Amino acid sequence: MSLLDDLEPLKQAALAEMKAAGDTAALEQAKGAWLGPHGKFTALMKQLGALPREERPAAGKLINQAKSELEAAMTARRRELEIKAAQPAEPADFTLPGRRRPLGKLHPLTQVTEDIVRSFRKIGFAVADGPEVETEYYCFDALNTPEDHPARDVQDTFYLEDTNDLLLRTHTSSVQIRVMKKQAPPVRIIVPGRVYRRDTPDATHNPTFHQIEGLYVDRLVTVGDLKGTVEYVFRQLLGEETQIRFRPHYFSYTEPSFEIDFSNALTKKMGKEWLEIAGCGMVHPQVFENVGYDPEIWTGWAFGFGIERIAMIRYGINDIRLFYENDLRFLRQF
Ligand code: DAH
Repeated sequence: MSLLDDLEPLKQAALAEMKAAGDTAALEQAKGAWLGPHGKFTALMKQLGALPREERPAAGKLINQAKSELEAAMTARRRELEIKAAQPAEPADFTLPGRRRPLGKLHPLTQVTEDIVRSFRKIGFAVADGPEVETEYYCFDALNTPEDHPARDVQDTFYLEDTNDLLLRTHTSSVQIRVMKKQAPPVRIIVPGRVYRRDTPDATHNPTFHQIEGLYVDRLVTVGDLKGTVEYVFRQLLGEETQIRFRPHYFSYTEPSFEIDFSNALTKKMGKEWLEIAGCGMVHPQVFENVGYDPEIWTGWAFGFGIERIAMIRYGINDIRLFYENDLRFLRQF
């Protein structure tokens, strides 16, 4: 049997093996076995030398042809296998609805804060902020709060150990002072922020909670301006039919001072005609003195209220602690 008689069966065997290769690794192995340095086809080329001289060119040509055929078959099979590998193992149904990623939501307190801020922005107020770790000066002294005021008691305020006068601010009113010390009047700011008090947590108290402070300073500002602004904002927040009333009160940084009550369908549902919601008043002349504003020229009002309280009333939440527990069953409802 001559070398050339072997050629065709060898080629057919090689082609069959390549076709049978189930993945590219098997194909590479077949390639080595046939076309590699020690492969069966390579061995055939080496036998060329044994042929009579005049037969060698034609035989060489045939072997080379067969070899190129094998190489082309290899490449085609490799492409087939690569495409197969890239396809999903199971058939895909492209008509199925996609899987949506669940979208996160803002915390209800953040939502209420943003609503309040939006209402005030519409009437020209800017957002200001200040540190939660405060000094006694900004939290109390500059706000005209006397040394013996109960709010300054260690029973009520978290003081930082080993510091002279650092504390966690008990209200956002401290930012009034920080802003007025930095800028000349007029002032029109609101201050949303976290505050701290030594309270035992229960359904209506938590040692940290959030407030919004407002401060308006200009010439000839009156209680009428205060009342009109507060009424506008609470109607935006709690519904157009909301009524408010002012009750005389005492705060050291305002004179006169008031507590604000509101009344609407929500308060009636809670079995109450009026519900207390905020403190406010006309900025005390001493506070203006303390920040370097001339109280003969400048007048203003300020208010402060709790954000949790607004959110609780608005959504009918009966326990303040729910806001801080991060229970998704609660949070998903807003
Ligand atoms: N700081 C007061 C509080 O924590 C709230 C408050 C009352 C703020 C009257 C004011 C104000 O600006 O004028 O309860």
